[in-house]
Amino acid sequence: MPSALPAGDPVPEDGALPEGALDGVGERPFGFYVHVPFCTVRCGYCDFNTYTADELGPGASRATYAETAIEEVRRARRVLGDADVPVSTVFFGGGTPTLLSPSDLGSILRAIDDEFGLAPGAEVTTESNPDSVDATALDALRARGFTRVSFGMQSAVPHVLAVLDRTHDPVRVPRVVEWARAAGFDQVSLDLIYGTPGESLADWETSVEVALACAPDHVSAYSLIVEEGTALARRVKRGELPMPDEDDLADKYLLVDERLHGAGLEWYEVSNWARDGSSRCRHNLLYWTGGDWWGVGPGAHSHVGGVRWWNVKHPVAYADRLAADRSPAHARELLDDETRRVERVLLELRLRDGLPRGVLDDRGRAAVPGLVARGLLTEAGDRLVPSRTGRLLADAIVRDLLP
Ligand SMILES: C[S@@+](CC[C@H](N)C(=O)[O-])C[C@H]1O[C@@H](n2cnc3c(N)ncnc32)[C@H](O)[C@@H]1O
Ligand code: SF4
Repeated sequence: MPSALPAGDPVPEDGALPEGALDGVGERPFGFYVHVPFCTVRCGYCDFNTYTADELGPGASRATYAETAIEEVRRARRVLGDADVPVSTVFFGGGTPTLLSPSDLGSILRAIDDEFGLAPGAEVTTESNPDSVDATALDALRARGFTRVSFGMQSAVPHVLAVLDRTHDPVRVPRVVEWARAAGFDQVSLDLIYGTPGESLADWETSVEVALACAPDHVSAYSLIVEEGTALARRVKRGELPMPDEDDLADKYLLVDERLHGAGLEWYEVSNWARDGSSRCRHNLLYWTGGDWWGVGPGAHSHVGGVRWWNVKHPVAYADRLAADRSPAHARELLDDETRRVERVLLELRLRDGLPRGVLDDRGRAAVPGLVARGLLTEAGDRLVPSRTGRLLADAIVRDLLP
């Protein structure tokens, strides 16, 4: 969720969707994203919509956030009408969702279940910082229906965590994973970041090995992005820290891919690895394959039937809108067929399941043999899948395949 909201078309006060957007809703997988915009510390690299104060203004405090979010869930039900829309995935992200109590998180989940019904076997994830949960909280989350937890580990190396402004003691990561297992979570994921200034290849190797020693079901490993407007970007601009180096990032990507593969975790998206098909994050797959989801919370994005909208960014403006019985949506856009096709190419070429060749236009299809000959793409039936080198050069592939 980038900090600046894009322009777009206005949304009616009741949030009604344009004609046709609801066609087929409920026949495709449907997800809920719940944004929780609170953190104890703002990490210098992060530009997510999150705030460190408990009280952000009238109607927007941590203590009242669950009630406000539930208001939006109820509005979602009214906008989507009477259609049967079983919810197959719910993802609480942030910010730091586990700064809310398990009973607050559970009450938002219960509202989604009451209004829509969770599909059998629904995946219910929460992100969590290792120092924002303990064994009791994990037990309580599991008891309230959460099935998956994703811990923000980032690194196992203290000097790397310090540059990232991460506050947890790295020894806490194996402990929280153990607590999650004891609580009965089947799916445990770890988030890692590579390319932090001052991180050596050996440091990164240590982080990957420590992560693997926790035996996670899933790992996300992202290269550090220096986002405009962050404290990290200012430090890089002042020359205090170097920009991440492209060759170093490539070496670190290859290292993590090799080590995870060796430990039985296979890539299924360029930056995501899973133990098997059942450990892939179904919620993220829904984003990457053009599915329908409703994003609850300030700044949250939604997509239903080719309409994308995004909420007002500040928690006070968000709470005000809901208190006035108005849609919290800030603006929206209707995706035309060509935009949807281009997005499919961008997203599905990052997936191990690949892009059906039929999505390409004539020019794109003509470029395929060259990309295969250069070893960037492989063909699996009618699907095009990036090779290992291709995963490192996704931008170059896309430049050849799109107008
Ligand atoms: C927004 S966080 C939410 C979860 C939790 N607060 C945490 O930090 O672990 C989700 C993931 O995005 C990653 N992230 C945020 N900003 C990033 C950046 N500039 N570059 C790479 N990863 C980033 C975080 O480190 C985290 O693993
Ligand atoms: S804890 Fe997570 S969401 Fe909060 S500032 Fe750090 S990276 Fe961003």
